[in-house]
Amino acid sequence: MAENLNLDVSEAQIAVHWQEEQVFPPSAQFIAQANMTDPRIFERFSEDKFPECYKEYADLLTWYRYWHTTLDASDPPFWKWFLGAEINASYNCVDRHLDKYKNKAALIWVPEPEDEPHVTLTYQELYVRVNEVAALLRDFAGLKAGDRVTLHLPMVLELPITMLACARLGVIHSVVFGGFSAKACGERIADSGSEVLVTMDGYYRGGKLLEHKAKSDGAIEVAAKEGQTVDKVLIWRRYRGKYVSQAPIVEGRDYFVDDVLRDYVGERVDPVPMPAEAPLFLMYTSGTTGSPKGCQHSTGGYMAYVAGTSKYVQDIQPDDVYWCMADIGWITGHSYIVYGPLSLAATSVMYEGVPTCPDAGRAWRIAEQLSVDIFHTAPTTIRMLRKADPDGPSRYDYQFKHMTTVGEPIEPEVWRWYYYVVGKGKAAIVDTWWQTETGGFLCSTMPAIHPMKPGSTGPAVPGIYPVIYDEDGNEVERGHGRAGNICIRNPWPGAFQTVWGDRDRYVSTYYAKYCKDRNSTDWRDWPYFTGDAAMEAADGYYRILGRVDDVINVAGHRLGTKEIESACLDVPEVAEAAVVPLADPIKGRVPDVYVSLQPDCDPTQVRAAVVRSIEISIGKIARPKHVYVVPDMPKTRSGKIMRRVLAAISNGRDIGDVTTLANPSVVSEIRDMVQG
Ligand code: PRX
Repeated sequence: MAENLNLDVSEAQIAVHWQEEQVFPPSAQFIAQANMTDPRIFERFSEDKFPECYKEYADLLTWYRYWHTTLDASDPPFWKWFLGAEINASYNCVDRHLDKYKNKAALIWVPEPEDEPHVTLTYQELYVRVNEVAALLRDFAGLKAGDRVTLHLPMVLELPITMLACARLGVIHSVVFGGFSAKACGERIADSGSEVLVTMDGYYRGGKLLEHKAKSDGAIEVAAKEGQTVDKVLIWRRYRGKYVSQAPIVEGRDYFVDDVLRDYVGERVDPVPMPAEAPLFLMYTSGTTGSPKGCQHSTGGYMAYVAGTSKYVQDIQPDDVYWCMADIGWITGHSYIVYGPLSLAATSVMYEGVPTCPDAGRAWRIAEQLSVDIFHTAPTTIRMLRKADPDGPSRYDYQFKHMTTVGEPIEPEVWRWYYYVVGKGKAAIVDTWWQTETGGFLCSTMPAIHPMKPGSTGPAVPGIYPVIYDEDGNEVERGHGRAGNICIRNPWPGAFQTVWGDRDRYVSTYYAKYCKDRNSTDWRDWPYFTGDAAMEAADGYYRILGRVDDVINVAGHRLGTKEIESACLDVPEVAEAAVVPLADPIKGRVPDVYVSLQPDCDPTQVRAAVVRSIEISIGKIARPKHVYVVPDMPKTRSGKIMRRVLAAISNGRDIGDVTTLANPSVVSEIRDMVQG
């Protein structure tokens, strides 16, 4: 970790010299209609009101039973929120809206092929479908509260329907991003202990109908090798009654959901009142070492946090048409396509495919057709759309009131394009900084309260108290623009509860680094380590500088370099592998791979084999930009691969002093190879 930290701190130091940006006030029109215009919200969420302040978020929900303890911090860092309370997430996203909103669109699904009709589900229709699927999961698949089920699904309505059906029963869903490979899915099935896999036959992406069911067969094999048997595979079909996959159906294991559902037509399933602390879902994410970790999110605290932040930061109101372009297979989709917006009775739009299919105007056409007024996406997509057609938005008659950027730092220049061209100079922008682990936003401007500053996420959201530490645990003086490790001083209800099945990893990864006293039961001694470098400007706005660990943020998605390296090592010819982040004008970062080979190996096929192995292990999203076959890795005298040196070479940066390496001459050899 320390080795890569150097890399990021040097970036951080460069960043300090970035100029301060001009700020943009939100428009009077936006403020006039906003959910939260009162700056006193920060007083209500002040540190001395902690943790009771979070009742304000919890009160946005409907509870079966209230809590007796808002925060039980007696077993740090395992925080328990709303202890004693009971709640059901599915009830809060569906049933409770029927009185007022049953004929209102809950979800609008836009298929990628433009000649296929949009599908709208009203809250009443969503209610019917969630109930029928819940009945099937309970009575056909035998699932009950506390069981885990893996959902390997693309961006189709069946995904939120299945999630809400699980939540209705208290079944813990683990959604695996549809683009992940069979192997990645299988590892997550095994780790979560899922006996049921929900998948789909195929889906559209980039103009092609992709095979998907075949991945489940591979995934089940991988899971079986790790000791986890999958008894049932429930297959949704892209077209009802028509199987579009080539993969065989395994008798007694694989079932078409649309067939089985015929037995459950009209069934109703009472939502199960769950303890606030019961896990709602697992979301796997990459870390510094080892396999991906299953971040376990709670029901009550998580729901309160996403409802509160959706209302005040996203400014979602029931008559908004809200479109978040993320994939539900990532945390953004869980919190800000499904649970947050639906808990507020919004209309949430889901799009199946890529935003430039069949052309760069697609996103703006969807916005125009559906009257989207809140838009949410990542810098990667913004950069891509800008490159594809910089004037595109002006040709479409839509009007956003609010826009979000999330997942990676946004360059001020790209921000300004987003503001002036996509938002037509009228929409308020929030740059929301957070993580899979945090459940919801940590930093962002409050859109009707704070001015926007391009390239900065903004101050912390209500109730969040960041602190920046240096490597030795000293607090970096506030507001001086000095970079360090950004941590959060206090627990908050959206924070994940643990790493599934690995309490030690939860403590060591997130809390050990800056814990002041391991025996302390005072939460103040347990700051949460985010793994990001950041600096705070004089105005209290934070600028996020990127990861300080071995995580590469590719197009806003987290990939562990160790996972990619281990895929490289699956190629028999590869002796050693090192993966470093390469700056990319569209995706932010992409992996660059260096491999050295076993003696007497023929290197000709190695590059292709490495790429294939990475796609098999993780998925296309991890595909490297280059695979360099090098004579040897630059190493310290103790034999550690100097990834920092390779990253500097990849990015054309100064490699610094390498004379102390065990093999300094290899550095210039590699540099010549890479830089020509
Ligand atoms: O490095 C930060 C970056 O994305 C990481 C979290 O990735 P993930 O868990 O996949 O969640 C993505 C969706 C929240 C963070 O550690 N990141 C996230 N949002 C921003 C960001 N970097 C800069 N600015 C942001 N707004």
